[in-house]
Amino acid sequence: MDVFPDIAQETRMVVLTGAGISAESGVPTFRDKDGVWGKYDVMSVATPEGFARDPGQVWRFYNERRKQAQSVKPNAGHYALVRLEEFLPEGRFTLITQNVDHLHRKAGSRNMHHMHGELAKVRCTRCEKVRETLEDLPELPRCECGGLLRPHVVWFGEVPFDMDRLFSLVEACDLFLVVGTSGVVHPAAGFVIHAKRSGATTVGVNLEVPENRGFIDHFYQGKSGEILPRLVEYWARCLIA
Ligand code: OAD
Repeated sequence: MDVFPDIAQETRMVVLTGAGISAESGVPTFRDKDGVWGKYDVMSVATPEGFARDPGQVWRFYNERRKQAQSVKPNAGHYALVRLEEFLPEGRFTLITQNVDHLHRKAGSRNMHHMHGELAKVRCTRCEKVRETLEDLPELPRCECGGLLRPHVVWFGEVPFDMDRLFSLVEACDLFLVVGTSGVVHPAAGFVIHAKRSGATTVGVNLEVPENRGFIDHFYQGKSGEILPRLVEYWARCLIA
C-alpha cells in the first residue's frame, strides 16, 4: 500500500463522500451487488418525470429509506472524519457528501454540505418551503399550503445544491480526499478532476477502483471504516510533529 501523504497546519482539505462510507453502517450503496439501483428503476423513483408520473411510488421508495435511516448508526469512517475536522485548524476542513442519510451529522461533522439533499427534509412543490422531519409520512404528504410535498433530495436531471460554492472550495483546497464513491455521477465525480487540475494532492479510499482513479494521486483500496481511522491518525501525528 502507498504511504500516506503528509499534511501541514496550513493544509486546506476538502473531503467528498459517497454511499460507500455508509455501507458499514448497513445502508446499501447504489451500484454494488445488492445495490439500490439493482432493485429499483432509477428513472421511476429518482427523476422529476418519475415523480410527476407516479408520486406515490416515489414516496413509497423514500419512506422506506427514511424509515431505515432512523435505525442506522455512524461507523468508524464517519467518526474518523469528525476527528479530522476537530484537529485541523478552524476553516481548513470542508466535508461534501453525496449521501442523503444523516450519518455524518449524527457522528458530529459540522462544516458539511449535503450536495444531493437530505432524506430528513421535505420540500413543498408549490410554496418551496423546506421542512425537517423524519416522522412517518403518508403516501402523498401535503404542505400546510395544500401543495404536494416532495423529498428534499436531488434527482437525476436536477442540479445539485450549492454547486458554485462547492467548486470554489474544491478549487482552493490543497488536499482533496474522496471516499466511498464509484466516481460515475457528475458533477460530484468531476470534483477530484477539478481539484487535481487546480494543483491539489488527491487521495482516495474505496472498496473497488473508482471510475476516476486516474485523477487520484494516492489510492487506498479497502473499507473506509478500516482505512480512514489509520489515515486520520497519521495526519494527526503530522500536525504534532
Ligand atoms: P455507488 O453505489 O455508485 O458507489 C459506492 C462505492 O462505494 C463503490 O465504488 C464501492 O466500491 C464503494 N464501497 C462500498 N463499500 C465500501 C466501504 N465499506 N468502504 C469504502 N468504499 C466502499 O454510490 P455513489 O458513488 O455514492 O445520487 O453514488 C453517487 C450518486 O449516485 C448517489 O448520490 C445517488 C446515486 O444515484 C442520486 O440519487 C442523485
